[in-house]
Amino acid sequence: MLSLNNAFSADEVGEFDRRCREGTGRESLAYVAEPKIDGLAISLLYEQGELVRAATRGDGRTGEDVTLNVRSISSIPLQLRSHRVPPSLEVRGEVFMPIVGFERLNEQQKARDEKLYVNPRNAAAGSLRQLDSNVCAQRPLSFFCYAVGVWQGTPSPSSQMQMLSALREFGFPVNPLAREVKGLKACLDYYEDVMASRASLRYEIDGVVYKVSSFEDQQVLGSVSRAPRWAMAYKYAPEQAQTRLHAITIQVGRTGTLTPVAELEPVFVDGSTISRATLHNEEEIGRKDIRIGDTVIIEKRGDVIPGVISVVKDLRPAGAEPFDMIAVTGSQCPDCGGAIHK
Ligand code: IVH
Repeated sequence: MLSLNNAFSADEVGEFDRRCREGTGRESLAYVAEPKIDGLAISLLYEQGELVRAATRGDGRTGEDVTLNVRSISSIPLQLRSHRVPPSLEVRGEVFMPIVGFERLNEQQKARDEKLYVNPRNAAAGSLRQLDSNVCAQRPLSFFCYAVGVWQGTPSPSSQMQMLSALREFGFPVNPLAREVKGLKACLDYYEDVMASRASLRYEIDGVVYKVSSFEDQQVLGSVSRAPRWAMAYKYAPEQAQTRLHAITIQVGRTGTLTPVAELEPVFVDGSTISRATLHNEEEIGRKDIRIGDTVIIEKRGDVIPGVISVVKDLRPAGAEPFDMIAVTGSQCPDCGGAIHK
């Protein structure tokens, strides 16, 4: 299973389009554009229409066998019904946890005093790795397919767009936002359109993916070091929000490390509510001059814990003091009372 190269600006997408046009000798190219789902890649093998194996991506070559757990995901068909299904078919796509399901799961975890998941992606990964498939079956996992690894025994479609239609016909969920877009401008418009609807999607996305639609052109372009030249992810900037820092608490790690944590006025960012963020260490707090009572900009990106980016100094309340970790702890570990050292 391949991975994707990333673009972070319209110029980089322009470069990608130029390379694809030059490589194929075409004046203009048709791409398939799809949201980039923030979940985890999975490979599903069907023999004679029956799901026989499901595996995680792993290192791209060898993944974990998660067949039992995947069998409990209701949107993944166990048996393909269409008479056009090839005898051997390997479908790839993304398993993800919808945002509402993620929040409900974390409420349950909290009520049972079990560990909370950082984000829907970690929750999806953690659910698929459950040793007891009954536990996984209770988790609200969903799936979109986006590619085929093996299609054997019957003539295969000749473009990504046709492939998606075939998969839809076989009973696989295909993202309804997948579109054929022609040329660079349409690619960039798609990015904006999806960004505008991002907040109303029921799942998290971290960008859009462009794929040269024609399989013949894909073959001509080929791959370099595990990433195809015919595909590109155009990532969204991590979402930020402004909120108030009520307090700084000290978290004691398993090895005794003390980490300051920002306790925030809860704020909705990129599909979920954030009320805590990491402050990393005292130096970081000093460098960014973060004080209790401050209005801060927080950022949520991918699978890392939300962080405090900066302080809105104009909104600092009078009398806010610089944070002193030794002073607030009274030189004692808040967990065991032992002496603390820097
Ligand atoms: S295509 C060459 N399409 O992104 C084809 N990937 O950064 C490789 N992903 O491992 C994948 N949504 O887990 C493709 N619509 C989409 C995707 C998608 C999410 C993930 C996938 C992949 C990772 C690469």
